[in-house]
Amino acid sequence: MKALVTGSNGFIGSALVERLLKNGIEVNCLVRRTSDLTYLQNLPVKLSYADLRDASTLRAVVEDIDMVYHLAGVTKARNREAYLQGNYVSTLNLLQACDQYSAADLKFVFVSSLAAAGPSSADKPLKETDAANPISVYGESKLRAEEAVVQYAKHHFASIIRPPVVYGPRDRDVFVYFKSVQKGLILLLGKGTQPVSLVHVDDLVEGILLASTTVANGKIYYISGDGTYNWQIIGRSIAAALAKKPLTLRVPLWLLKLTAFMSVSAAKLANKPALLNWDKVAEMKQAAWLCSNERAKKELGYKPQIDLSTGIQRTAAWYKSMGWL
Ligand SMILES: NC(=O)c1ccc[n+]([C@@H]2O[C@H](COP(=O)([O-])OP(=O)(O)OC[C@H]3O[C@@H](n4cnc5c(N)ncnc54)[C@H](OP(=O)(O)O)[C@@H]3O)[C@@H](O)[C@H]2O)c1
Repeated sequence: MKALVTGSNGFIGSALVERLLKNGIEVNCLVRRTSDLTYLQNLPVKLSYADLRDASTLRAVVEDIDMVYHLAGVTKARNREAYLQGNYVSTLNLLQACDQYSAADLKFVFVSSLAAAGPSSADKPLKETDAANPISVYGESKLRAEEAVVQYAKHHFASIIRPPVVYGPRDRDVFVYFKSVQKGLILLLGKGTQPVSLVHVDDLVEGILLASTTVANGKIYYISGDGTYNWQIIGRSIAAALAKKPLTLRVPLWLLKLTAFMSVSAAKLANKPALLNWDKVAEMKQAAWLCSNERAKKELGYKPQIDLSTGIQRTAAWYKSMGWL
């Protein structure tokens, strides 16, 4: 069995690569000439160089492959065009290459996002059968990519995974909260009680593997941990793991918008994607981001293993061991 992993050098991709290798799968890692390969160093993988935005680079990387795990994508981009190129066009290019140059029984798993579906109400987690209503350009670009996968799945094996917020070793987004708690602050937007779903990267990897072994026909699965959290609960859990007694600081929306304005302006000058942009502000303002993992449990046999406290402790230990905290 030979797998191609896109986004292989990233946070989730590198965890998936390690797991596939443990399972005895041969792994080809799609990377760019500019990719940071730190997490793939010393792993027995083959590097396949390509840029998903350039269809002409993809033939050689998809030939002779049994499974494609498509995780590459952009969660932060400079503008709408860059989100569409990084998530939608890239996915379309890869699907077309697989359609033309891979074996007919290739298995394709696409890692999308809860953002493709949009926010939920505070008391009702989204199900895969609920209508999608993305409120960010990121979410819209992921939804368009999903639609391309659904088309492809009319003639091939393909499934779609929608994770909520993912945390764990190597993550740099939730890490911001770890860093602020380490400095003595739990930062909350408004009351900080916006309910969210969350998944540890190891549980997500398990869900991705399950989705690649069950016949799917373009089906969508939410791969989430059990339970409902909010950033206050997550902050307290991080504080417990770091043995800190932080102060809680509530950030009003106007201050968040001001910070986003400064972040976007500075990023424009530096010609880089902003860490906090209007898309992220739109996502943070929503009532809730909840999804149900019931379909994944029923149809894939998915069973999350890592509760919040264990996951946060393991993640904090990793950040400390790497000198990030
Ligand atoms: N982290 C989360 O909380 C979360 C939640 C829901 C969904 N997701 C989705 O999960 C996937 C993986 O996320 P992550 O957190 O692991 O992201 P990450 O660490 O930022 O990794 C993104 C990966 O995509 C690659 N990539 C981007 N554009 C590419 C292109 N044009 N050609 C080839 N490779 C390209 C990057 O390569 P370079 O290193 O060369 O840039 C990198 O390997 C993404 O699709 C993301 O949307 C993540």
